[in-house]
Amino acid sequence: ETVPLEMHKVRIVQKLSLPPVERRLEKITEAGNNTFLLKNDDVFLDMLTDSGVNAMSDRQQAAMLIADDSYAGSATYTRLEDKLREIFGMHYFLPTHQGRACEHILAKVLVSPGKVVPMNYHFTTTKAHITLQGGTVEELVTDAGLEVVSVNPFKGNMDIAKLRAVIEKHGADKIAFVRMESGTNLIGGQPFSLANLADVSNVCKEHGIPLVLDASLLADNLYFNKTREDHCKALSIREITRRTADLCDIIYFSARKLGCARGGGICIRDQATYQKMRPLVPLYEGFLTYGGMSVREMEALTVGLDETMDEEMINQGPQFIGYMVDQLTERGVPVITPAGGLGCHVDAKRFVDHIPQSQYPAGALAAALYIASGIRGMERGTLSEQREPDGTEIFANMELVRLALPRRVFTLSQVKYAVDRIAWLYDNRKLIGGLTFVEEPEVLRFFYGLLKPV
Ligand code: F0G
Repeated sequence: ETVPLEMHKVRIVQKLSLPPVERRLEKITEAGNNTFLLKNDDVFLDMLTDSGVNAMSDRQQAAMLIADDSYAGSATYTRLEDKLREIFGMHYFLPTHQGRACEHILAKVLVSPGKVVPMNYHFTTTKAHITLQGGTVEELVTDAGLEVVSVNPFKGNMDIAKLRAVIEKHGADKIAFVRMESGTNLIGGQPFSLANLADVSNVCKEHGIPLVLDASLLADNLYFNKTREDHCKALSIREITRRTADLCDIIYFSARKLGCARGGGICIRDQATYQKMRPLVPLYEGFLTYGGMSVREMEALTVGLDETMDEEMINQGPQFIGYMVDQLTERGVPVITPAGGLGCHVDAKRFVDHIPQSQYPAGALAAALYIASGIRGMERGTLSEQREPDGTEIFANMELVRLALPRRVFTLSQVKYAVDRIAWLYDNRKLIGGLTFVEEPEVLRFFYGLLKPV
């Protein structure tokens, strides 16, 4: 077996506790069987997300102490802006409080009723912001991207023929922008290839359509470009990053993921677009030199972005995830393959094939796994979809329980514990029943909806 090796040592620790199973049952019931509503005190291993919970380095922590506090023109902000220019080569930057705030600004400026946004795959908050502005999303991931069991190294690729057909169908003037998502979140953290991005970029250029990159999960995508794509093997991570950026007009990101910090922002190549978006930052986020981020967050981000250019840093997530996926596969547990970034994705459609999609199999499995292990995962299936305007349920293409491995947080023994508990639950899967809503919010319902056993 291939065993991942930590290229860091642990210098600060946080105590964990593993509540007994009776308490776990009580807590998940109180939480309406929604793992978002559990208190972290009642969780042993928090694999809900990698968002804002990646481990920071000593250099990031140190940088936070030399932050320059000022509302306007802080030296901290200038360091961040310089670092982004250095890495992505785009001149303009707008800071925001997190990734979805970038999506809010992009949608407000670029999307209006009747506009279409083609993308490799949607993300929950992205789609919500686009539809809120009256736009629609067209998902153009290759058919291979939706095959749960696969050896395709780039399941996040966009289907170029589908892209051309969508532009033809709506007309280029109706396309607000094309969006490519690094480390495609909802289909299992799957990367796109640099070659595919170049093809997408060519089509965009032909039609004068801006290409927007969601770089929240760029670190994982870069690692897979480097290790799975022949023409990238001789390039440094920094070079792959620049080649990626050079193909795009706008790059936005959640710094809760990229750069192992907090916050986010939008890098923009063209001055006119920057000038259209700029007024929204003081309005919704904060002044132009912090955009809702604290100076400490910005310092940590600047260092974190630099460290993201280190292959021995960005290989940690994918290698641990690869190990977890291999171990579960060996035990017969259905998971998404090949292993992607972000986390290990358990395939609930096959795991609990006795639960129909109308009863949220992935939500049910996430709740059951917490009871069986004290591990908190996240539903990424039908619960995470939004209903059609007429109320019809949209069944997700995939029913996944995502077990995120925040970067450099968990040890190999903790991953082994997770594998053991998931395998136990798989052997006892008929214990798991479906769920139904007790209280269903209208927007982004998965965050705080309450459910009960059917
Ligand atoms: N884009 C992608 C690809 C994301 O994964 C996220 C967040 C966002 C945008 C929004 O960024 O949270 O900073 O507002 N993903 C988190 C997750 C929430 O758990 O997957 P945000």
